[in-house]
Amino acid sequence: VARPIGIGLLGCGAVGRGVMSILRANAERIAARAGGRLALRRIATQDVSKFRDDVEPPLLTGDPWAVVHDPDVEIVVELLGGLEPARTLIAEALRQGKAVVTANKAVLARHGTELQATAARHGAPLLFEAAVAGAIPIIKPLQECLAASRIQSILGIIDGMNNAILTGMARDGLDFSAALQRARQLGCLAGDTGADDVERRTAALRAHVEGYDAAFTLAILASAAFETRVRVEDVFCEGITHISLADIQYGRELGYVLKPLAIAKEGEGRLELRVHPAFIPREHPLAAVNDLFSAVFVRSDAGGELMLCGRGTGVLPAASAVVADIIEAAKRLRSGLRGVPPAPERTLPVKPIDEVVSRFYVALEPADDPGVLAAVAGAFGRWGIGIRAAMQRERFAAPAESFASPIDLVFLTHAVQEARLRRALAEIDQLDGVRRIRHVIRVEEPEPSQPTA
Ligand SMILES: NC(=O)c1ccc[n+]([C@@H]2O[C@H](COP(=O)([O-])OP(=O)(O)OC[C@H]3O[C@@H](n4cnc5c(N)ncnc54)[C@H](OP(=O)(O)O)[C@@H]3O)[C@@H](O)[C@H]2O)c1
Repeated sequence: VARPIGIGLLGCGAVGRGVMSILRANAERIAARAGGRLALRRIATQDVSKFRDDVEPPLLTGDPWAVVHDPDVEIVVELLGGLEPARTLIAEALRQGKAVVTANKAVLARHGTELQATAARHGAPLLFEAAVAGAIPIIKPLQECLAASRIQSILGIIDGMNNAILTGMARDGLDFSAALQRARQLGCLAGDTGADDVERRTAALRAHVEGYDAAFTLAILASAAFETRVRVEDVFCEGITHISLADIQYGRELGYVLKPLAIAKEGEGRLELRVHPAFIPREHPLAAVNDLFSAVFVRSDAGGELMLCGRGTGVLPAASAVVADIIEAAKRLRSGLRGVPPAPERTLPVKPIDEVVSRFYVALEPADDPGVLAAVAGAFGRWGIGIRAAMQRERFAAPAESFASPIDLVFLTHAVQEARLRRALAEIDQLDGVRRIRHVIRVEEPEPSQPTA
């Protein structure tokens, strides 16, 4: 009978307890898949005196280093969150040759390359599927299942909360704040219970709606997909707070669905990295991904197009991904084939957003001037920007949305470099017939994959 493999938990909060309950409930199945039993040896928490009915008190310690240094702990599972001490503890566990499983997006987005290098130096597996898109397996498919292909692009809905908000607006006609309220009731926001820690909750909420949370996820995904170092600061990031029901409605008339997209593309030796709301054609597979679901659409030269979809948020999906990584780590430790990939050695330059080419949706409020449509079209023309569609509509607006003018002019442009569009818009903004440019939203029309073989 194989000796049990020792597990040490750093953190026993929402995800930690989920992990413990899965390990307990599915012990037989997990042992069969891991090639033998797993044994929980130690658990570090901040406050050991807190009552935890599901934890055996002797396992608890207030000192996370005691977990990392425990010789009976072979797999360290980091579920503390935050940058420090998580980063230092992970690095130390790897230096000792222990396997590390983490769900910590922040630490990986900021220090992933350095930790992967430490893992490679010490032959220590570092597994982090749970840090990216919850229960959706994506790191393994990128690194292993698509190993024979060159990844060309990733389009993802990787923030389930933002997707739930935009779904609430598009499908159910809620305005932004009502849709946000409902998304929270669905339990999208980690730790969104009780009245305590309002500051932490507000910060978490902002990280979602302003796109930072997705930017962290994209940094990790892009690094794995393109085998390059990615700095999270290089991800262009725009939130969803400015989106109105009117935009969603006009986009629908033009054949599009609005989604909170994360985009990473490699082309001509550079990377595009951006997180922003975007219109996608209603026939695109991502257009059907609604509510709390997340999805990642990958295009590669040999593998073609594939989409992985599932519950990207929530404690149990995250815990399930952590346990799957624990099983994988146990198998690797038992087999002696540790399968530690090298850390990315190259740093692809990132294309500035000004140079990114897309189509654009532009909504503006005209003054009461019959010549305005022609004047705007003329300004676009002077900048060489073609117009695919133009329409004038009496404003569709929810009760909470109030605008000065009841008329909207909406344009859909052909593909244009972002800097050029901005210059044209600066000119349009000065036209007598234009009260204000209300919204500019990128339109993402994915190209088919380009086989190289
Ligand atoms: N919650 C989700 O839905 C979700 C989904 C995906 C990924 N994640 C990621 O999973 C990780 C854990 O999230 P969570 O929601 O489980 O967090 P959480 O509920 O806040 O739990 C954090 C745990 O870490 C312990 N802890 C914090 N600092 C410590 C320190 N310095 N020393 C010892 N223990 C310490 C806390 O101790 P006390 O119990 O004593 O306070 C608590 O047990 C985070 O990286 C998060 O981003 C979470």
